[in-house]
Amino acid sequence: MEVDVFTLFPEWFEWFRTQRHIANAVAGGSTLNCVSYRDHTPLTGGQVDDTPFGGGAGMVLRVDVVDAALRAHYDCDPVTLSESRRVVALTPGGRMLDEELVNELASEPSLTLLCGRYEGFDERIIEHLATDSISIGRYVLAGGELAAMVVCDAVMRKLPGALGHEDSVMEESFSAALGGAPEYPHYTRPAQYREWGVPEVLLSGHHERIKEWRFEQSRQRGDAARERPLP
Ligand code: ADE
Repeated sequence: MEVDVFTLFPEWFEWFRTQRHIANAVAGGSTLNCVSYRDHTPLTGGQVDDTPFGGGAGMVLRVDVVDAALRAHYDCDPVTLSESRRVVALTPGGRMLDEELVNELASEPSLTLLCGRYEGFDERIIEHLATDSISIGRYVLAGGELAAMVVCDAVMRKLPGALGHEDSVMEESFSAALGGAPEYPHYTRPAQYREWGVPEVLLSGHHERIKEWRFEQSRQRGDAARERPLP
């Protein structure tokens, strides 16, 4: 998978790229590139944003700047880009990231992530240049970079070789193997710590019973999550 992140802070991703699962995915043939809006801005002095029409606080990322950065990187009219790849604007009000969306994105051959800053994007970026707008939660971050990392982390760990052992994505929270429910609880040594023990079944060596217990725990957690009242 080819992932391109458009940002004002490409250096933020240098550390992120060194994380084991990201590095593994890259070693497995995926790419994670960062493109700086500032490197392609048609405006003087590296300007990328402007005051909002109609007044109000904050600055808005300009549509001509994002258009120029996409055009320079992909060497085409960005409006036609959507035919060949998902172009995601990261916004607090977008489609909420969940396991279904992560799987959808992980099945794409390529992905472009647009990070906003300040008050966010000129709406024409979302309307005409992006194919999707995605939120990692209903709260406002100072910019889209951390949200882009969350998307990359969740998506790239699904890619071949990212985790080293493929079983770990097969039977994890929200996977099809668990019927979309959260994962069952895990325990490791010591079997007894203070007065806290481990469910007997896990120490029994009885694989069939362990499997049934885990599935049941996962189902109960799913039920509990569904019943939890919304705040
Ligand atoms: N940019 C700022 N806040 C965000 C959020 N919650 N999700 C995605 N992008 C964002």
